[in-house]
Amino acid sequence: MSAIFITATGTDIGKTYVVTSLIRHCRTAGLQVDALKPLATGFDPTSPAMSDTGLLLAALGRPLQSADINGISPWRYSAPLSPDMAARKEGKVVDFGALVDFCRRSIAACPGTLLIEGIGGVMVPLDEKYTVLDWMAALNIPVVLVTGSYLGSLSHTLTALDAMRSRAIAVTAVVLNETVGSTVSMADTEATLGRFAATIPIAPLPRGGSVTRLASLILK
Ligand SMILES: Nc1ncnc2c1ncn2[C@@H]1O[C@H](COP(=O)(O)OP(=O)(O)O)[C@@H](O)[C@H]1O
Ligand SMILES: [Mg+2]
Repeated sequence: MSAIFITATGTDIGKTYVVTSLIRHCRTAGLQVDALKPLATGFDPTSPAMSDTGLLLAALGRPLQSADINGISPWRYSAPLSPDMAARKEGKVVDFGALVDFCRRSIAACPGTLLIEGIGGVMVPLDEKYTVLDWMAALNIPVVLVTGSYLGSLSHTLTALDAMRSRAIAVTAVVLNETVGSTVSMADTEATLGRFAATIPIAPLPRGGSVTRLASLILK
């Protein structure tokens, strides 16, 4: 039983790509793996296949049916907004305690590695009071931070790492995911991050690339 939380410097940075690639890597290697996307926004129940939930289920080789969708993504909202705003549009509030309990119970029940995809970036609000940072701190499991090679990502990455450090959240690796069309070199970005975050391993991930290096860093 082990669990890893996958967060990012922001939305669309590559969390789902990393989680689905890790799932496929584990299954090919014969390792037991499961995944959750507990909170999903922008979820369209009429076309769930392309949602994060659908992509995770496909990678896990599980059917796209309501029991499985509910099982990995109990909190789903249709507006493509932060969870607090998306829930409010439906007259609801994300129950932070229930979210943490659900994750803890899932971690305890998982015989292999459980990958938990967060939502948006490190400090996306979940309700009026809590952000993803509080969620990660409450779970107290290792975190993988996915970032890009876009111009501006150095500050976003170091700010995210600083916020997590201030809450004693253990970052086990940074995935430097190649940003399409970026003018900034991956190698220079990796070298700079290495200077400012010297204790955290960095796994570069080219477009369409494999997560072998990341897997070797995080899977026990
Ligand atoms: N390394 C990569 N190679 C190819 N496509 C990628 C890679 N990283 C992300 N993508 C694609 O970029 C888009 C946004 O990534 P996604 O994983 O959905 O981000 P997030 O989960 O952080 O919102 C998706 O279409 C995804 O498949
Ligand atoms: Mg995603």
